[in-house]
Amino acid sequence: MHATICDLITDLVQNSIEACATDIKLNVEETKTNLNVVIADNGKGMSTAVLEKAKDPFYSDGQKHKHRRVGLGLPFLFQTAEMTGGNAAIKSTEGVGTTVTFQFDPANVDLPMFGNFTMAAVTLMTYGFEGNLTIERSVDGAGYSISKMEVLDALGDLNDTENLILLKNYMASQEEEIKVL
Ligand SMILES: Nc1ncnc2c1ncn2[C@@H]1O[C@H](COP(=O)(O)OP(=O)(O)OP(=O)(O)O)[C@@H](O)[C@H]1O
Ligand SMILES: [Mg+2]
Repeated sequence: MHATICDLITDLVQNSIEACATDIKLNVEETKTNLNVVIADNGKGMSTAVLEKAKDPFYSDGQKHKHRRVGLGLPFLFQTAEMTGGNAAIKSTEGVGTTVTFQFDPANVDLPMFGNFTMAAVTLMTYGFEGNLTIERSVDGAGYSISKMEVLDALGDLNDTENLILLKNYMASQEEEIKVL
């Protein structure tokens, strides 16, 4: 199962990639009283019927896991929201895109650990998908924004180990900065 909120975020962005999105926006805002996350994509979207089923823990579209028709991403999201008194919502329009939002109380004892955002962001930036991913991130009002296009322009090939280390160090320094302020 999911160990951290960052794993959950990674899974939800992966859903957007699997839905053939070419533009994904991830917004992760933390304050002392609220964790607010938005994942918006321009992927294939879902019909009302698929959307209803997608919230069901015993549904997966059957394409990916040939031996398991059970999706974990969305059910885990709704289960966590329910367990911790948070909110989670999905808006989706077929052929247009999907927006997943959630708000959790960081002080709730039942909330999974937040996890390592630097590593999650590096993983997402290096996923082999053609489109753009923009990350907006803030902690207590101090924030940064980074997009995959900017990263590729600045660093070039992300399969190159040295470039990957540069990206990781850059992301870590951005995270440090907003947490110190
Ligand atoms: N952003 C999205 N755009 C379009 N369809 C989506 C999106 N997110 C989820 N879905 C649909 O909802 C279903 C359930 O998603 P969920 O993440 O719970 O499971 P999964 O992706 O099928 O499997 P798993 O995440 O466990 O590998 C998906 O199979 C897909 O049909
Ligand atoms: Mg999934």
